[in-house]
Amino acid sequence: MKTLLIGGYGQLGTAIRRCWSDGEIIAPARSDLDIENHESIDSALRAANAELVVNCASFHDVDRCEREPERAFAANAYAVFDLARMCSRYNAAFVTFSTDYVFDGALRRPYREEDAPNPLCAYAASKLAGEALALSANARTYVVRTCGLYGRAERASKASFIDRILESARRGEEIVIEDGIVASPTFVGHLAAALQPLLASGQYGLYHAVNREPVSWLEFAAEAMRQSGIPAAPRPGPPRAHIAPRPSYSALESARLSTLGVTLPEWREGIRAYLAL
Ligand SMILES: NC(=O)c1ccc[n+]([C@@H]2O[C@H](COP(=O)([O-])OP(=O)(O)OC[C@H]3O[C@@H](n4cnc5c(N)ncnc54)[C@H](OP(=O)(O)O)[C@@H]3O)[C@@H](O)[C@H]2O)c1
Repeated sequence: MKTLLIGGYGQLGTAIRRCWSDGEIIAPARSDLDIENHESIDSALRAANAELVVNCASFHDVDRCEREPERAFAANAYAVFDLARMCSRYNAAFVTFSTDYVFDGALRRPYREEDAPNPLCAYAASKLAGEALALSANARTYVVRTCGLYGRAERASKASFIDRILESARRGEEIVIEDGIVASPTFVGHLAAALQPLLASGQYGLYHAVNREPVSWLEFAAEAMRQSGIPAAPRPGPPRAHIAPRPSYSALESARLSTLGVTLPEWREGIRAYLAL
């Protein structure tokens, strides 16, 4: 299997390159393939002649998306539509990623694929639009919603949430985490591994793929500190001020994946695997 991997040096892209040992992966730099540039998509797809295109690129600075919704829709919706259409033209299956933020959090239990989305911010609306456009443009599309990704990107613009809190804690700073925000933080290595049986299934469509069991970011931080041997715990903090509204509950359940017999490990295993990297 020949795969064209876009955004291959970010968190998830790096994990995919490390985890998928079968087949050939072509991972152009952003300077060689910009998903917002139609000509660059066309020439990369034509040159690669890949059977599978995996798009890990996204504009996912949530507050910037709120200030620049046109840019959010350009990268997360129209560019994804263009990619899906071009994959159809070049006879490639297509994988793209979406977000837990498509939900408003009102349900207060892990969201399944059939639950109704209700995006609260421009980022989430742009990703939801990208999902629908991709699925409509190419029948051989997998849209994978995931949540709270962490991993070691080969070309990282900033440290992961875990690294930031561990570095602060080791400097003796008090760790304060907004209380009551529940999600499904997911280790990219586990997600990359789960994608392989999904892609082998040929069962296209919308999937949730996250580490198992919901957890608050406060509890997640406490566990990361505990597993790192830091003899302190984070303190619950007040709501943080954001430009873009976010759901306070956005845990996902990987319901459709489990019908294929694919399960991701529980969230504590994600921390363990990340710390062992
Ligand atoms: N991170 C999360 O917590 C999270 C949660 C839910 C869903 N997701 C989704 O999961 C996917 C992967 O996320 P990630 O955390 O791996 O992202 P990431 O670490 O930010 O990596 C994204 C990569 O895409 C590249 N890129 C951005 N815009 C591009 C463009 N226009 N053309 C080509 N390449 C471009 C980036 O390059 P530069 O570094 O040069 O910009 C970067 O290498 C995204 O679809 C994201 O929305 C992420």
